[in-house]
Amino acid sequence: MKDNAYFDNAATTWPKPEQVYAFMDRFFRSHGVNPGRSGSPLAVEAEQMINVTRSMLGRFFGYGGPSARVVFTLNGTDALNMAIGGLVSDGDHVITTRLEHNAVLRTVNYMERDRGVQVSRISAEADGYIDPHAIQAAIRDDTRAIILTHASNVTGTVQPLREVAAMARDAGVPLVVDAAQSAGVLPIDMDELGIGVLAFPGHKGLFGPMGIGGLIVAEEVDLAPVRFGGTGVDSILSFQPDAYPYHLEAGTVSLPGIAGLHAAQRWFRALGQQLQSEATGTVASEMIINPGMEVEFPCAGANDTDHGVWCRQAMNHIHQRELAHLERIEAKLREFTSVRILADARPDARVATLSFTVDGLSTERIADQLDADHHICARVGLQCAPLVHVDAGTADLGGTIRLSPGYFTDEADMQQLLHALDDILG
Ligand SMILES: Cc1ncc(COP(=O)(O)O)c(C=O)c1O
Repeated sequence: MKDNAYFDNAATTWPKPEQVYAFMDRFFRSHGVNPGRSGSPLAVEAEQMINVTRSMLGRFFGYGGPSARVVFTLNGTDALNMAIGGLVSDGDHVITTRLEHNAVLRTVNYMERDRGVQVSRISAEADGYIDPHAIQAAIRDDTRAIILTHASNVTGTVQPLREVAAMARDAGVPLVVDAAQSAGVLPIDMDELGIGVLAFPGHKGLFGPMGIGGLIVAEEVDLAPVRFGGTGVDSILSFQPDAYPYHLEAGTVSLPGIAGLHAAQRWFRALGQQLQSEATGTVASEMIINPGMEVEFPCAGANDTDHGVWCRQAMNHIHQRELAHLERIEAKLREFTSVRILADARPDARVATLSFTVDGLSTERIADQLDADHHICARVGLQCAPLVHVDAGTADLGGTIRLSPGYFTDEADMQQLLHALDDILG
């Protein structure tokens, strides 16, 4: 039995590809200077790495505009605060859903309470999906933003992003997408869909470290800055420069965090290339897990135009592998009539996360047993998405147990979990 079998990848993916650890360590040692704050060769190279990463992320998310509009943030929450705060003024109207994480809910709640912002919160249907027409019906002349989670962090249900994006585009309202649970798992084509602002954490499906996230802001959208400070350029200006990324990025960026995202982007690409080159489609799992072990710098070819194509292949592969784990977990849970799984996720519209309760057993008790007796890392409670639980009737039960396998979940982890479920529920 392993010390810990990790089934909390929806909180943060762990472990990361080896290259991420190695490159962060190497780059931070060799280039750990303040990028953009001096003209020294080291600072210039650090800046180059950052800019290549912006452009890789743009391609990763199907964004063809200037890479300067890929803006680094602290995490997903910070990105959403910057997006919502940058779009919405006092008294405006916004539309969001009851599936959202507190990163959105609390942000709009403050605006509603303190700034007279009017908020329409759309409920999901019983199956865990938002009806796009309910969002369309809520659009008003003074609607300034629609904020939608791409995938629920409680139920794993993937929302009808294409339909909502089309409706938002027709109405001329910027769509802010919270891609916390989908970035790195589901290909997102920002330009094709017409997404206004894409917000993502770096530490989940993108396989970067904690402390880094990002925003991509479409060219037709302007966000007012919500943070102010030094940019290393145009220091004489009394206000933030108009030029992106400085318009939104204030203060020293997380160089180690961006280096981690950089290595992870190159891992995605190497994985996609490797999958493509395997005529049979069967690749030794060790190779898949560690494609292109070394990440070199400077990075020849890191900026190539096919980056998004390779990464898309990798994402599809990662998603399928994670779903295969999830299906086994779900099948095990369904053996027990006492288990209630939240929502009715469709196989073609879900990520590898599910939540459940058990009749007659408290969530705390199950959590204790999973943890103390079986060393299973799971997430118990409201998962920072309280309205999902209010609507599902699980808020008063203390929430649910959430299981989220990841790409690096292995057979030993699975056996440990399946055995634990048999033991606790049987
Ligand atoms: C749907 C969703 N949105 C936003 C966030 C916030 O991301 P972060 O923890 O990086 O701030 C999370 C994190 O769990 C999430 O699941």
